[in-house]
Amino acid sequence: MATDDRPPRLHVVTGKGGTGKTTVAGALALGLARQAKRVLLVEVEGRQGLAQLFDTPPLPATETRLAAAGGGEVVGLAVDAETAMLEYLEMFYSIKRAGSVLRKMGAIDFATTIAPGLRDVLLTGKVKESVTRTDRAGRPVFDAVVLDAPPTGRITQFLQVTYEAAQLAKFGPIHRQSQGVIELLHSHLTRVHIVTLLEEMPVQETLDAAAELRAAGYRLGRLLVNRARPALVPAGPPAPALLAEGLAAAGLDPALAGGLAVEMDDYAQRQDLQERAAATLTEAGLPITRLPELPPPLDLGSLFELADALDVRALS
Ligand SMILES: Nc1ncnc2c1ncn2[C@@H]1O[C@H](COP(=O)(O)OP(=O)(O)O)[C@@H](O)[C@H]1O
Ligand SMILES: [Mg+2]
Repeated sequence: MATDDRPPRLHVVTGKGGTGKTTVAGALALGLARQAKRVLLVEVEGRQGLAQLFDTPPLPATETRLAAAGGGEVVGLAVDAETAMLEYLEMFYSIKRAGSVLRKMGAIDFATTIAPGLRDVLLTGKVKESVTRTDRAGRPVFDAVVLDAPPTGRITQFLQVTYEAAQLAKFGPIHRQSQGVIELLHSHLTRVHIVTLLEEMPVQETLDAAAELRAAGYRLGRLLVNRARPALVPAGPPAPALLAEGLAAAGLDPALAGGLAVEMDDYAQRQDLQERAAATLTEAGLPITRLPELPPPLDLGSLFELADALDVRALS
Protein backbone atom coordinates (compact mmCIF):
# COMPACT_ATOMS: atom_id res chain seq x y z
CA MET A 1 0.00 0.00 0.00
CA ALA A 2 1.25 3.48 -0.81
CA THR A 3 1.93 5.49 2.30
CA ASP A 4 3.70 8.78 2.89
CA ASP A 5 6.27 7.04 5.10
CA ARG A 6 8.10 5.56 2.16
CA PRO A 7 11.22 7.57 1.45
CA PRO A 8 11.05 9.97 -1.50
CA ARG A 9 13.46 9.38 -4.37
CA LEU A 10 12.96 12.65 -6.25
CA HIS A 11 13.74 15.86 -4.35
CA VAL A 12 12.62 18.98 -6.20
CA VAL A 13 14.39 22.07 -4.84
CA THR A 14 12.77 25.40 -5.67
CA GLY A 15 12.87 28.89 -4.12
CA LYS A 16 12.96 32.55 -5.06
CA GLY A 17 15.91 33.33 -7.38
CA GLY A 18 19.14 33.98 -5.49
CA THR A 19 18.05 32.39 -2.22
CA GLY A 20 20.48 29.51 -2.72
CA LYS A 21 18.56 26.81 -4.61
CA THR A 22 21.60 25.51 -6.44
CA THR A 23 23.77 25.56 -3.33
CA VAL A 24 21.17 23.81 -1.18
CA ALA A 25 20.38 21.25 -3.92
CA GLY A 26 24.12 20.46 -4.03
CA ALA A 27 24.30 20.09 -0.25
CA LEU A 28 21.23 17.86 -0.23
CA ALA A 29 22.73 15.63 -2.93
CA LEU A 30 25.98 15.32 -0.95
CA GLY A 31 24.10 14.55 2.25
CA LEU A 32 22.15 11.77 0.54
CA ALA A 33 25.29 10.43 -1.17
CA ARG A 34 27.03 10.24 2.18
CA GLN A 35 24.60 7.52 3.16
CA ALA A 36 26.31 5.30 0.59
CA LYS A 37 23.90 6.32 -2.09
CA ARG A 38 24.21 7.03 -5.75
CA VAL A 39 22.64 10.42 -6.26
CA LEU A 40 21.92 12.26 -9.49
CA LEU A 41 21.93 16.05 -9.24
CA VAL A 42 20.08 17.57 -12.18
CA GLU A 43 19.94 21.13 -13.42
CA VAL A 44 17.47 22.27 -16.05
CA GLU A 45 18.05 26.00 -16.38
CA GLY A 46 21.11 25.79 -18.61
CA ARG A 47 23.24 28.02 -16.40
CA GLN A 48 26.03 25.58 -15.55
CA GLY A 49 25.38 26.36 -11.90
CA LEU A 50 26.39 22.84 -10.82
CA ALA A 51 29.78 23.05 -12.54
CA GLN A 52 30.39 26.36 -10.76
CA LEU A 53 29.24 24.98 -7.43
CA PHE A 54 31.47 21.91 -7.63
CA ASP A 55 34.29 23.83 -9.30
CA THR A 56 34.43 21.60 -12.38
CA PRO A 57 34.50 22.36 -16.12
CA PRO A 58 31.07 22.96 -17.72
CA LEU A 59 28.99 19.79 -17.63
CA PRO A 60 28.43 17.98 -20.93
CA ALA A 61 24.96 16.69 -21.82
CA THR A 62 25.90 13.35 -20.23
CA GLU A 63 26.05 12.27 -16.60
CA THR A 64 29.34 13.25 -14.95
CA ARG A 65 30.68 12.41 -11.50
CA LEU A 66 30.87 15.54 -9.35
CA ALA A 67 31.93 14.29 -5.93
CA ALA A 68 32.42 11.23 -3.77
CA ALA A 69 30.90 11.22 -0.31
CA GLY A 70 31.20 8.49 2.33
CA GLY A 71 30.78 5.47 0.07
CA GLY A 72 28.31 7.17 -2.21
CA GLU A 73 28.65 9.63 -5.02
CA VAL A 74 27.02 12.62 -6.63
CA VAL A 75 26.62 12.46 -10.40
CA GLY A 76 25.71 15.70 -12.17
CA LEU A 77 23.59 16.25 -15.25
CA ALA A 78 22.81 19.50 -17.03
CA VAL A 79 19.72 18.50 -18.99
CA ASP A 80 19.39 20.26 -22.24
CA ALA A 81 16.15 20.27 -24.19
CA GLU A 82 17.70 19.47 -27.55
CA THR A 83 19.49 16.34 -26.30
CA ALA A 84 16.34 15.28 -24.47
CA MET A 85 14.35 15.71 -27.66
CA LEU A 86 16.74 13.59 -29.72
CA GLU A 87 16.54 10.91 -27.02
CA TYR A 88 12.77 11.05 -27.25
CA LEU A 89 12.70 10.68 -31.00
CA GLU A 90 15.03 7.72 -30.73
CA MET A 91 13.14 6.11 -27.86
CA PHE A 92 9.66 6.46 -29.33
CA TYR A 93 10.21 6.35 -33.04
CA SER A 94 13.73 4.90 -33.46
CA ILE A 95 14.57 7.84 -35.69
CA LYS A 96 17.96 8.89 -34.52
CA ARG A 97 18.99 9.87 -38.03
CA ALA A 98 15.80 11.77 -38.63
CA GLY A 99 16.69 13.61 -35.43
CA SER A 100 19.97 14.80 -36.85
CA VAL A 101 18.26 15.84 -40.09
CA LEU A 102 15.70 17.78 -38.06
CA ARG A 103 18.54 19.37 -36.15
CA LYS A 104 20.25 20.47 -39.36
CA MET A 105 17.00 22.00 -40.52
CA GLY A 106 16.82 23.96 -37.28
CA ALA A 107 13.54 22.24 -36.42
CA ILE A 108 14.71 21.23 -32.97
CA ASP A 109 15.95 24.72 -32.12
CA PHE A 110 12.62 25.95 -33.32
CA ALA A 111 10.62 23.45 -31.29
CA THR A 112 12.61 23.92 -28.08
CA THR A 113 12.89 27.71 -28.13
CA ILE A 114 9.60 28.72 -29.71
CA ALA A 115 7.50 26.35 -27.64
CA PRO A 116 8.74 26.81 -24.06
CA GLY A 117 6.05 24.43 -22.86
CA LEU A 118 7.53 21.69 -25.00
CA ARG A 119 10.94 22.45 -23.56
CA ASP A 120 9.63 21.82 -20.03
CA VAL A 121 7.88 18.61 -21.15
CA LEU A 122 11.24 17.35 -22.40
CA LEU A 123 13.04 18.37 -19.22
CA THR A 124 10.55 16.80 -16.81
CA GLY A 125 10.46 13.73 -19.05
CA LYS A 126 14.21 13.36 -18.67
CA VAL A 127 13.93 13.74 -14.89
CA LYS A 128 11.35 10.96 -14.83
CA GLU A 129 13.60 8.74 -16.94
CA SER A 130 16.46 9.29 -14.46
CA VAL A 131 14.31 8.44 -11.44
CA THR A 132 12.83 5.29 -12.96
CA ARG A 133 15.89 3.96 -14.81
CA THR A 134 16.90 0.47 -13.63
CA ASP A 135 19.94 -1.73 -14.12
CA ARG A 136 19.85 -5.27 -15.49
CA ALA A 137 18.90 -6.65 -12.10
CA GLY A 138 15.95 -4.29 -12.02
CA ARG A 139 17.41 -2.07 -9.30
CA PRO A 140 17.16 1.72 -9.62
CA VAL A 141 20.37 3.16 -11.09
CA PHE A 142 20.04 6.19 -8.79
CA ASP A 143 18.94 5.88 -5.18
CA ALA A 144 17.88 9.51 -5.26
CA VAL A 145 17.56 12.34 -7.76
CA VAL A 146 17.85 15.97 -6.66
CA LEU A 147 16.48 18.56 -9.06
CA ASP A 148 17.77 22.13 -8.99
CA ALA A 149 14.40 23.31 -10.24
CA PRO A 150 13.03 26.56 -11.70
CA PRO A 151 12.24 29.33 -9.18
CA THR A 152 9.05 29.56 -7.12
CA GLY A 153 7.42 31.88 -9.66
CA ARG A 154 7.54 29.16 -12.33
CA ILE A 155 7.72 25.88 -10.43
CA THR A 156 4.05 24.90 -10.52
CA GLN A 157 3.79 25.66 -14.22
CA PHE A 158 7.00 23.68 -14.81
CA LEU A 159 5.67 20.62 -12.98
CA GLN A 160 2.19 20.96 -14.53
CA VAL A 161 3.24 21.34 -18.14
CA THR A 162 2.94 17.64 -18.83
CA TYR A 163 -0.82 17.78 -18.24
CA GLU A 164 -1.06 19.87 -21.36
CA ALA A 165 1.06 17.41 -23.33
CA ALA A 166 -1.19 14.59 -22.17
CA GLN A 167 -4.18 16.55 -23.46
CA LEU A 168 -2.60 17.10 -26.86
CA ALA A 169 -1.59 13.48 -27.38
CA LYS A 170 -4.60 11.51 -26.23
CA PHE A 171 -3.09 8.08 -26.83
CA GLY A 172 0.14 6.47 -28.01
CA PRO A 173 3.67 6.57 -26.58
CA ILE A 174 3.73 10.31 -25.84
CA HIS A 175 0.47 10.06 -23.94
CA ARG A 176 1.75 7.12 -21.92
CA GLN A 177 5.02 8.89 -21.22
CA SER A 178 3.18 12.07 -20.09
CA GLN A 179 0.93 10.03 -17.85
CA GLY A 180 4.02 8.45 -16.29
CA VAL A 181 5.56 11.87 -15.57
CA ILE A 182 2.33 13.17 -14.00
CA GLU A 183 2.06 10.08 -11.80
CA LEU A 184 5.66 10.24 -10.62
CA LEU A 185 5.53 13.95 -9.74
CA HIS A 186 2.39 13.43 -7.64
CA SER A 187 3.48 10.18 -6.05
CA HIS A 188 5.02 9.43 -2.66
CA LEU A 189 8.37 9.29 -4.50
CA THR A 190 8.46 13.05 -5.01
CA ARG A 191 8.85 15.91 -2.52
CA VAL A 192 9.10 19.60 -3.29
CA HIS A 193 11.36 21.56 -0.94
CA ILE A 194 11.37 25.36 -0.91
CA VAL A 195 14.54 27.34 -0.15
CA THR A 196 14.03 30.77 1.39
CA LEU A 197 15.76 33.55 3.25
CA LEU A 198 14.25 35.05 6.38
CA GLU A 199 13.26 38.23 4.56
CA GLU A 200 9.83 39.57 3.73
CA MET A 201 9.75 38.99 -0.05
CA PRO A 202 11.16 35.44 -0.19
CA VAL A 203 8.97 34.42 2.76
CA GLN A 204 5.86 35.72 0.99
CA GLU A 205 6.85 33.94 -2.24
CA THR A 206 7.43 30.77 -0.25
CA LEU A 207 3.96 30.89 1.30
CA ASP A 208 2.37 31.61 -2.11
CA ALA A 209 4.28 28.81 -3.82
CA ALA A 210 3.49 26.35 -1.01
CA ALA A 211 -0.24 27.10 -1.36
CA GLU A 212 -0.12 26.85 -5.15
CA LEU A 213 1.82 23.57 -5.13
CA ARG A 214 -0.51 22.06 -2.55
CA ALA A 215 -3.58 23.09 -4.53
CA ALA A 216 -2.08 21.39 -7.59
CA GLY A 217 -1.63 18.18 -5.57
CA TYR A 218 2.13 18.12 -5.04
CA ARG A 219 3.69 16.82 -1.84
CA LEU A 220 5.76 19.38 -0.02
CA GLY A 221 8.86 18.40 1.91
CA ARG A 222 10.64 21.05 3.95
CA LEU A 223 11.14 24.76 4.05
CA LEU A 224 14.88 25.26 3.95
CA VAL A 225 15.82 28.58 5.52
CA ASN A 226 19.19 29.50 4.04
CA ARG A 227 21.77 31.95 5.38
CA ALA A 228 20.14 32.16 8.79
CA ARG A 229 21.95 34.46 11.22
CA PRO A 230 22.41 33.20 14.75
CA ALA A 231 20.77 35.14 17.59
CA LEU A 232 23.77 36.96 19.06
CA VAL A 233 22.56 40.04 20.86
CA PRO A 234 19.65 40.82 23.18
CA ALA A 235 16.80 42.99 21.86
CA GLY A 236 16.99 46.74 22.41
CA PRO A 237 19.93 49.14 22.27
CA PRO A 238 22.82 48.18 24.57
CA ALA A 239 23.85 50.51 27.40
CA PRO A 240 27.10 52.28 26.29
CA ALA A 241 28.39 52.52 29.86
CA LEU A 242 28.08 48.78 30.31
CA LEU A 243 29.81 48.17 26.95
CA ALA A 244 32.68 50.51 27.89
CA GLU A 245 33.12 48.60 31.14
CA GLY A 246 33.15 45.29 29.29
CA LEU A 247 35.66 46.55 26.71
CA ALA A 248 37.96 47.82 29.45
CA ALA A 249 37.71 44.48 31.27
CA ALA A 250 38.75 42.74 28.03
CA GLY A 251 41.75 45.05 27.72
CA LEU A 252 40.23 47.01 24.81
CA ASP A 253 39.75 50.75 24.35
CA PRO A 254 36.48 51.77 26.09
CA ALA A 255 36.14 54.56 23.49
CA LEU A 256 35.01 51.85 21.02
CA ALA A 257 31.77 51.49 22.98
CA GLY A 258 29.84 54.09 20.94
CA GLY A 259 30.50 52.43 17.57
CA LEU A 260 29.95 48.98 18.99
CA ALA A 261 26.59 50.03 20.44
CA VAL A 262 25.44 51.20 16.99
CA GLU A 263 26.51 47.93 15.36
CA MET A 264 24.88 45.83 18.05
CA ASP A 265 21.66 47.75 17.74
CA ASP A 266 21.77 47.30 13.97
CA TYR A 267 22.26 43.55 14.39
CA ALA A 268 19.48 43.37 16.97
CA GLN A 269 17.10 45.02 14.51
CA ARG A 270 18.00 42.60 11.72
CA GLN A 271 17.65 39.74 14.18
CA ASP A 272 14.19 41.00 15.06
CA LEU A 273 13.15 41.27 11.37
CA GLN A 274 14.50 37.78 10.78
CA GLU A 275 12.53 36.27 13.64
CA ARG A 276 9.36 38.01 12.49
CA ALA A 277 9.87 36.53 9.03
CA ALA A 278 10.43 33.13 10.67
CA ALA A 279 7.15 33.46 12.56
CA THR A 280 5.30 34.24 9.31
CA LEU A 281 6.91 31.23 7.65
CA THR A 282 5.35 28.85 10.18
CA GLU A 283 1.95 29.66 8.57
CA ALA A 284 2.88 27.17 5.83
CA GLY A 285 2.61 24.39 8.42
CA LEU A 286 5.72 22.65 7.10
CA PRO A 287 8.89 21.48 8.83
CA ILE A 288 11.56 24.19 8.78
CA THR A 289 15.30 23.59 8.68
CA ARG A 290 17.79 26.43 9.17
CA LEU A 291 21.06 26.47 7.26
CA PRO A 292 23.86 28.77 8.42
CA GLU A 293 25.39 31.70 6.58
CA LEU A 294 28.90 30.52 5.62
CA PRO A 295 31.97 32.61 4.76
CA PRO A 296 32.60 33.03 1.01
CA PRO A 297 33.77 31.60 -1.24
CA LEU A 298 31.72 28.44 -0.71
CA ASP A 299 33.60 25.24 -1.52
CA LEU A 300 33.03 21.50 -1.18
CA GLY A 301 33.72 21.79 2.55
CA SER A 302 30.96 24.40 2.86
CA LEU A 303 28.55 22.10 1.04
CA PHE A 304 29.32 19.29 3.50
CA GLU A 305 28.69 21.73 6.35
CA LEU A 306 25.30 22.60 4.88
CA ALA A 307 24.64 18.87 4.36
CA ASP A 308 25.21 18.34 8.11
CA ALA A 309 22.68 21.05 8.91
CA LEU A 310 20.18 19.43 6.52
CA ASP A 311 20.08 16.20 8.51
CA VAL A 312 19.11 14.12 5.48
CA ARG A 313 18.37 10.99 7.50
CA ALA A 314 14.97 12.47 8.17
CA LEU A 315 14.47 12.72 4.39
CA SER A 316 15.49 9.28 3.22
N1 LIG B 1 24.52 29.34 3.26
C1 LIG B 1 25.18 30.24 2.49
N2 LIG B 1 26.16 31.00 3.05
C2 LIG B 1 26.82 31.91 2.31
N3 LIG B 1 26.59 32.12 1.00
C3 LIG B 1 25.63 31.40 0.38
C4 LIG B 1 24.88 30.42 1.11
N4 LIG B 1 24.01 29.84 0.24
C5 LIG B 1 24.20 30.44 -0.96
N5 LIG B 1 25.18 31.37 -0.88
C6 LIG B 1 25.64 32.23 -1.99
O1 LIG B 1 24.53 32.94 -2.52
C7 LIG B 1 24.64 33.07 -3.92
C8 LIG B 1 23.39 32.52 -4.60
O2 LIG B 1 23.34 31.13 -4.37
P1 LIG B 1 22.76 30.12 -5.47
O3 LIG B 1 22.79 28.76 -4.88
O4 LIG B 1 23.45 30.30 -6.77
O5 LIG B 1 21.27 30.66 -5.56
P2 LIG B 1 20.11 30.33 -6.63
O6 LIG B 1 20.43 29.02 -7.26
O7 LIG B 1 18.86 30.31 -5.82
O8 LIG B 1 20.12 31.47 -7.59
C9 LIG B 1 25.91 32.36 -4.31
O9 LIG B 1 26.94 33.32 -4.43
C10 LIG B 1 26.19 31.42 -3.14
O10 LIG B 1 27.55 31.14 -2.97
MG1 LIG C 1 20.67 28.49 -9.27
